[in-house]
Amino acid sequence: MDLGVELAPRHGRGLRLRNPVMTAAGTFGYGTEPAELLDIQRLGAIVCKGTTIEPRDGNPQPRLVETAAGLLNSVGLQNIGIRALIEEKAPVWAKWQVPVVVNIAGDNAHQYAELASMLEGVAGVSAIEVNISCPNVERGGMEFGADPQAAAQITAAVKAASSLPVLVKLSPNVSDIAHIARAVAQAGADAVSLINTLRGMAIDKERRRPILGNIAGGLSGPAIKPVALYAVYRVAQAVSIPVIGCGGIVSASDALEFIMAGASAVQVGTASFTDPHAPLEVVEGIERFMEREGVERLTDLIGIAQR
Ligand code: SIN
Repeated sequence: MDLGVELAPRHGRGLRLRNPVMTAAGTFGYGTEPAELLDIQRLGAIVCKGTTIEPRDGNPQPRLVETAAGLLNSVGLQNIGIRALIEEKAPVWAKWQVPVVVNIAGDNAHQYAELASMLEGVAGVSAIEVNISCPNVERGGMEFGADPQAAAQITAAVKAASSLPVLVKLSPNVSDIAHIARAVAQAGADAVSLINTLRGMAIDKERRRPILGNIAGGLSGPAIKPVALYAVYRVAQAVSIPVIGCGGIVSASDALEFIMAGASAVQVGTASFTDPHAPLEVVEGIERFMEREGVERLTDLIGIAQR
């Protein structure tokens, strides 16, 4: 059986994954911590925590609220900054087989381009994921992902600054995600990943106050799966570059739904908080399904529900 997928077919270097299961940014650290618990080399790819030029402390606490079928977060891109990532994390990744994708976030197009150029030639970095969809920051983030012109401008700036494959992570907090996907594809994105979190909030009724220190946050987990699945289905019809599905995937069954909707790969996110083995279990479940159904190539399943 061949579980391999290509996520950047129009890029000279390409981004070939041995299987379609990636980790989602912000849910698997830098991959170095979970590496102590599981064989991460068996994953398709690891996407690291959203990274900015300078280190960030993130938003005021509390930053996490559990909801009926998901998680609200307002982390605010807490991270170690690009220099520490290059000096401390990339040398570890360079010894790994599993490709690592660096998720980058900035306040303006210039910062995104600077981040991309700093990653140029860094061993251990296989691709860039451009985060234009974080709902938890005052400047940048979702603001760019909600405007097709800004989304395209940032994509083009990163493409011009980098020879790596460029994925762009899209926000669901827009009226037409397919419109944004088309804009970034035209600007040169090699693939799109979707969806980031849905904006939401929770209130502590004893204190009569919002629970999250930042008032609002981003909702992830099983609650958002049907929204994410439909977004993937629509975007896969709208663009010809690969689509990476993300949003509430906790099992192989969920992952297969996204693949059949048109995703070339999937990202497992919130599920890793409850069980760090979740992404590997998704790989194994996909293998079992293919064996049982006599599917030889995973690529035969991509978008099959569209036909
Ligand atoms: C955060 O750090 O606030 C979440 C990152 C994201 O949603 O992109």
